[in-house]
Amino acid sequence: MTEVNRYKVLFIDYLESNINTEREPKNLYEPIHYILNLGGKRLRPILTLLSCDLFGGDVNKALDASLAIEMFHNFSLIHDDIMDEAPLRRGKETVHQKWSVNAGILSGDAMLVLANQLLENYEGNLYKSLSTLFNKTALEVCEGQQYDFDFETSNNVSVDEYINMIRLKTAVLVATSLKFGAMIAAADKKDQENIYQFGINLGLAFQLQDDYLDVFSEEDFGKQKAGDIKENKKTILYLKALELADKNDKDKLINLYQSKVENDNKVEVVVSIFKKYNIPQLIEKEVKRYTDLAIANIECLQLDDHKKEVLKMLAGQLMARKI
Ligand code: IPE
Ligand code: IPE
Ligand code: MG
Ligand code: MG
Ligand code: MG
Repeated sequence: MTEVNRYKVLFIDYLESNINTEREPKNLYEPIHYILNLGGKRLRPILTLLSCDLFGGDVNKALDASLAIEMFHNFSLIHDDIMDEAPLRRGKETVHQKWSVNAGILSGDAMLVLANQLLENYEGNLYKSLSTLFNKTALEVCEGQQYDFDFETSNNVSVDEYINMIRLKTAVLVATSLKFGAMIAAADKKDQENIYQFGINLGLAFQLQDDYLDVFSEEDFGKQKAGDIKENKKTILYLKALELADKNDKDKLINLYQSKVENDNKVEVVVSIFKKYNIPQLIEKEVKRYTDLAIANIECLQLDDHKKEVLKMLAGQLMARKI
C-alpha cells in the first residue's frame, strides 16, 4: 500500500491547504469542511494521481482534478445520505443529522459548484475535455441515484437493471477519476478509453462489495448496519436471493421489502434468508468476477509490466477491503 499511501498523503496535504475555515457564511461552509475532514478512503483522488503518474504525467498537475473528484464524491454522499435516511457516515453523524436537511441540500449544491471551479484551473483543450467528461459523469450519477430510488418501490428489478444502476451511480465516477489522470498526462487516446473501462469494472466490483459490506461487514463499516435492508434497497443480495429462494421465502422477502416501518426483526429475517441461500459467498464470487474483468482490461494498456502490476495489486486490495 506504500505507493498508494504516497498519493493519499499528497492529496490530503492539498485538500488541507484548500480549506479556509474563515469563509463566510459559516453555516454554508462548516458542513462542507466537516464532511471533507471526515476522512474516508480517498480512493477516487488516489486513482487520479496514480493514473497521471503511471502515464508519465506531472502528479502535481492532477491535484486540482483529484480534489474536484473528491469534492463531487462528498457532495454526492451528503445528498445520498438524505435520500437514504442514513444517520451515520464514516462513523460520525451525517450532515443532515448534525445540521439539517436544508443545510445538507445547500452545502451539497455549493460543493458541486466548487468542484466545477477547481476544474477551471486547467486551460484550453484540457479544461474543455475535463469539464465535458465531469459534467457527463455528474449527470450519470444523478441518473443512477434516481434508478436506485425508483427501485425501492419496484417489484420487478432485474439483475441487468441493477448492474446498469450501479454503473451509473458508482462506476462512472471511479472510471472518470482514472481517465482524468490519463488526460492530464496526455496519454494515448486508446489508453484513456482502456483505463476508463478498467474503472468501470473496478467500480462495479466496488459497489457490489459495498452492498455486501452493508449487511455482512464484520468490522465497523462506519455506516448504519443493514441500512440497505431497512430502506428496501434492491441490491444484488436481494435480487440473487429472490432468484434462489423457494416460494415461501420469496414471498417473505417480497413482503418484508414492502414497507419501511421499523419492524424489530425485519433485518434478522432477511439476513437469515440471505444466509440460507449462501448469498454472501455468491456475492463474493461476483465481486471477484468483476475484479477479474478489470484486471483483464489492464492487459490492454500500453504500460510497463511493473506499472500494470501496481493496478492489479490495487484491484486485489479493493476486492479484499473490509471498509
Ligand atoms: C461510498 O464510497 C459510496 C459508494 C459509491 C459505495 P466510498 O466507500 O469510497 O466512501 P469513502 O469516501 O471511502 O467514505
Ligand atoms: C451511493 O451508493 C452512491 C452515491 C453516493 C452516488 P450507496 O447509497 O450504496 O452508498 P453508501 O452505502 O451510502 O455509502
Ligand atoms: Mg447510501
Ligand atoms: Mg444510496
Ligand atoms: Mg451502500
